[in-house]
Amino acid sequence: MKAEAKTIWLDTTDSTQEEVRRHIDEYDNLTVVAALYQTAGKGQRGNKWSSGRGENLTFSVLLRPGKNGIREIPAKEQFYISIVSALAVKELLDGYGLRPNIKWPNDIYIGNRKICGMLIENVLTAGGMVESSIIGIGLNVNQTEFPPQLMNPVSMTKLTHQNYDIKAVLEAFLEYFCSLLQEEPTVLRQRYMDCLFRFGVKADYTDTKTGETFSGTIRGIDGEALLHVEMPDGSIKKFAFKEISYIL
Ligand code: BTN
Repeated sequence: MKAEAKTIWLDTTDSTQEEVRRHIDEYDNLTVVAALYQTAGKGQRGNKWSSGRGENLTFSVLLRPGKNGIREIPAKEQFYISIVSALAVKELLDGYGLRPNIKWPNDIYIGNRKICGMLIENVLTAGGMVESSIIGIGLNVNQTEFPPQLMNPVSMTKLTHQNYDIKAVLEAFLEYFCSLLQEEPTVLRQRYMDCLFRFGVKADYTDTKTGETFSGTIRGIDGEALLHVEMPDGSIKKFAFKEISYIL
């Protein structure tokens, strides 16, 4: 049976991630908290996530695997949550006629520009399962001006010259997300690989541990979600998130 999400819309909060964390014991599985404005939006790598008031989608989904017909997720397979979330945004944007790619592990790009970022925070059980996941998504919808320090942002409006009802876009996202939760993980993984940004294409990267830049080719992602990159000498090097930075 397809699970259903329930959305709570807030005017202003610090961060929808923190809002869900504060109320995690009260909220049902698949509660979604969305805000018109976040005063302290959080990005990956300790960055801030800024978004114009009411212009974009900033929301967090509470997922409790193993409950309400949602499959259990072993901790070592937690990359599955990124796969489902990224594919749901990808399919959503496909539906608006855009052609997104997923930049490992869970950014969404249109060409070389970022339209959506995700922050996925999991709580694991002592038994090695995912107990709960807070999936935070920032999708640029109607914003047309961005702070200059952002490297390469883009929004749906910038690309299509149309304005969107953000509440309707969120409802559409949740339809895709809940449907994808019902599908086979191996099938989803293949769909993720089919739209992986720079897959099989030679491009430039920085190894963040050594600071060296190199031309490499993404050859795959393993079960532990490590990115396999063919190095200039032909060897394959495995990178964890934060160990490699894409030069765009
Ligand atoms: C990234 O750096 O790419 C991740 C951005 C994640 C932003 C979203 S907006 C909704 C949720 N609340 C937060 O504070 N962060 C996430």
